[in-house]
This record gives sequence, structure tokens and C-alpha cells, in this order.
Amino acid sequence: MSRIVGIDLGTTYSAVAVVNEFDHPEVLTNRDGESITPSVVLFQGDMPLVGTVAKRAATTAPLDVVEFVKRAMGDASWRFDATDGRTYRPEEVSALIVKRLKEDAELALGVPVTEAVITVPAYFDDAQRQATRDAGRIAGVKVVRVLNEPTAAAIAYGLSSGFNGTILVYDLGGGTFDVTILRIDGGSFDILATGGDRNLGGFNWDGELMRLLNERYTAAGGEDLLDGGELEAGLRERAALAKHSLSSVERARVVLSGNTMTTTLEVSRADFESITSGLLSRTREMAEMVRDDAGLTWDDIDRVLLVGGSTRMPMVRRMVENAIGRPIERRIHPDEIVALGAAVQARLVESERSGVPNLTVNGNRIKVGDVTSHGLGTFAINPNTGRLENTVIIPHNTKIPAKHPSYFTTVHDNQLEIDVEVTIGDDTDPEYVRNATGDKPLRVRIPAYPAGAPIEVIYAYDIDQTVFVEVNDLTARTSLGTFEVPNIANMSRSQVADAANKMRTTEVG
Ligand SMILES: Nc1ncnc2c1ncn2[C@@H]1O[C@H](COP(=O)(O)OP(=O)(O)OP(=O)(O)O)[C@@H](O)[C@H]1O
Ligand SMILES: [Mg+2]
Repeated sequence: MSRIVGIDLGTTYSAVAVVNEFDHPEVLTNRDGESITPSVVLFQGDMPLVGTVAKRAATTAPLDVVEFVKRAMGDASWRFDATDGRTYRPEEVSALIVKRLKEDAELALGVPVTEAVITVPAYFDDAQRQATRDAGRIAGVKVVRVLNEPTAAAIAYGLSSGFNGTILVYDLGGGTFDVTILRIDGGSFDILATGGDRNLGGFNWDGELMRLLNERYTAAGGEDLLDGGELEAGLRERAALAKHSLSSVERARVVLSGNTMTTTLEVSRADFESITSGLLSRTREMAEMVRDDAGLTWDDIDRVLLVGGSTRMPMVRRMVENAIGRPIERRIHPDEIVALGAAVQARLVESERSGVPNLTVNGNRIKVGDVTSHGLGTFAINPNTGRLENTVIIPHNTKIPAKHPSYFTTVHDNQLEIDVEVTIGDDTDPEYVRNATGDKPLRVRIPAYPAGAPIEVIYAYDIDQTVFVEVNDLTARTSLGTFEVPNIANMSRSQVADAANKMRTTEVG
């Protein structure tokens, strides 16, 4: 028997979990006995190394190490050039991490693992979700569901606590920030609104502290440590360590070394909080926006879940407790809860398939209703202004799966094809949305008709927020097909297949 596992593929750390024989989700330990694996890859020698060993090498061989690759997912131009001359796309680096997690899970479970639920930040768009699915496929893992991280956290919390009511999940990880508000009622998890920033996380807090430390170091006569190489990697490590200390003590000592000078600096929590207060405010504003989108006030929120390692910073808890006016939940494990929720979702898939009993909360079967994190639309000329605008067809925060029709008419006699463009975003200004299909719109063949023939284009998001388009010929009342929209930011099917082939013969340590 094989198992479907839940994977939290994080910016800095990843974790794998399954629901055990006692119906409890549990995190699996990796081959080194750790419950979380650093999402870091070291390219040295024949075998890429993933995890703690790779993370240790970040300061000694920064040019051979990839960290934070999740921030590059969905970026078509990002490449890592390994010193052996090979070039990797973000999906391929990520696939090495998935492969290692898969092998460790197989070791822990003693059965093959070929399928997984992988979590993603709620704010990931369709290209980033697809890139995540492709990373799985390259690693030989079929991604059966892409689940939003805050939703996963809420499922795990709901299952273990039996709590009913309105929850705000504030998830500040290494690289991303997500806020989701949901209602739990019996076994039903209904997401009301979601939002976030896919480039805001502990990484940015580190960045501010690195700048402060570098300023003090240069003021003391040292050279600029922000050199983009080994010195900077060393500074990043020291800054992250100091940041961790400052979560429990008021002052941290930091030893900094350049090529010419080593010195010890002291930094206080107050200094750290003051240079990062702008980052914290951004999370508060985002949380308030999502709360407004859900049509709620702080008083309507019954519980707040702090998820993600960065919520260990005292400034985060203080700010959230200040906003909500009372103390908040402390009983959750911020590093593991997302993987635990992914495991529950994996079990739901297993039970749909094979009749393994479903999990229940207070006797109710678990049902999850999520919403879209980005609007979906197309470009059209606004007849009033004559200007090209983005027309949102499925707005942000719509329940998924979602299907909304849109109507067009042919422009010419005997027009034999129509081009469907797909945009991601909620703004009417084309500048502020992403054209998913780029200069390669989806081209659909249609029968020859006189100009003005009506065509229906149905835009759809499935439960993973993959974008589909269904095209109907309203003259003949026939379907012209359902198409998965190729995103220019993603690898093509054949590129994924090639990468998967290469990966089959790659050993990962
Ligand atoms: N004690 C601590 N104090 C401050 N920050 C911490 C502490 N422990 C961990 N962190 C920070 O938490 C972050 C990692 O959190 P987590 O493992 O939840 O993120 P992730 O899942 O890798 O990222 P993401 O969810 O954004 O993809 C890092 O930035 C790390 O520095
Ligand atoms: Mg995370």
C-alpha cells in the first residue's frame, strides 16, 4: 500500500506529515531524526544535498547553495547556475527538496510515497501553484491537492480543538505572509476572505537587521559586508541567529567578521523592533483589509492562530493582541501545524478513494470550502472610455470551484478562431494585473459564421485554483472544448517531462 502524505514546502523549512493509525496527524521525522528539514540545496559533487548539511554550507560555499527558492517559484526568468555548468529552474531546485522529503517519508513509513498534498501560501497565484505542482511531478510525486497554508493550519487546529467559531489565521513564515479568516462549524471549514504578501516574511526582518549590523560594523571601521557573497552569507546567518535570540532576550551579542576585522556588537530588541516596525505595520494593514473583506470587526473574531516561525517574535503577538484587545491562543505548534493540516487533507483524499473512514470533528465529516486569492479576468475595451481595461470575471474571495461566463461575438465574417486572454488580479488598470497568457493567448478554433456570432467563454477556477476556460458556440449550442490555460511563467509539459526524466537518475542526499 502506498500513502498520500501532506507536505508543507516552506521557504526556509519543510515538513511532512500523515494521519496515523490512531487517526491523529503526526509529523514524520527525516533521515536525520529532525521534524523539519531546511529547504536548502547544496550543489557540490555529483549528488545535490538537501537539508541541514546544505544549510550549514550556506556560509562557507554560498555560491553552491540555494536558499529561499520558494520566493522564485513562478518566476520564468530565475535560474541557478551550478558550478558544474548545469542550470536549474526554481521548479527543479524545489523538486530536489520534494524528492528528499519523499524518500525520508518512505523511510519513516516503510511504504512507497508517490502522491502528496502540498501546501502553498494562500496568496500564491496560479503560476506559482502550477510551479509547485510541476516541482512535485519532477520529483516523481503526483500532487493530488494544492492546499492553502492558513486553511491547512485551521483544519489541524479545528480537528484537535473541536472549536467552533470565527478564526483569523495570521501566518508569517520565512518568506511569505498570509491572512485568512474562516468560520468553523461542526466539520465545515468555510473560508470567508484571504489575502497576503508573497514577499514578506522572516527574510525581510533578517534583511533589516543585516543592514543595521552592517552599518554598525562599517562605523566601527570594518568593510562593507553586503558583498553578495561569502561575507553577506555570514552576515545573514548571524543576523538570523540574533533575531532568534531577541525573541527570548532583550539584548543579543553578535560577532561579526570581515576579511580585515572581527568585532562584537550588541543589539537590543528595542532597536530591532524599531527598524522592522514598518514591516509589522504592513502585516497589520493586510490583516485589517482581509477582515474588512470578510465584513467583520475585530470583535467578531473569536480566535487568532499565529502560524509560522516568525510569529515567535514578541512584536507580532503584542501587535495582534493589541488589535484584538485580548490574549490569543498559545497552544499550537507554529512550525508543524501546516503540515498536520495537509496530512488531514491527504487522508480526506484517501478516504474518498478507498473507503478508509473519513475523519470527523465532533462527529461531523470534515468539509473545506476555500476562496480565490486573486481575481481572474480578461482585457476588454471599455465602451464608455474607449480604453483597454481589465474586466474582472471571477473576483478575489469567490468560493471555489468557481465558474463565471463571459460573452463575446465574432468580429469578422468566417472568423475561424478566437483568442482568449486571461488576466490575474483585481484592478481595472492593465498595469496592475498579470497577463497570464502573455503574447500567446489561448487560441480556440470556431466554425465559420457571419460576424456577430455569439461565443460564450466560461472562466473557471478548480479547487486547487488552477485556471480553466470552457468555450461554447452559442449558434450551434455546442462545446468547443475545455482548456487548461498555459501560463507563460510555467514550464511546458515537455520541459517538465524532461526534467522528471533527468531527476529519476539523480540521487539526492
Ligand atoms: N525564535 C524565533 N524568533 C524569530 N524568528 C524565528 C524564530 N524561529 C524561527 N523564526 C523565523 O521563522 C521563519 C521560518 O518560519 P517557517 O518555518 O514557519 O517558514 P516557512 O514555512 O519556511 O516559510 P513560508 O511559510 O513563508 O514559506 C524564519 O524566517 C526564521 O528566522
Ligand atoms: Mg510556512
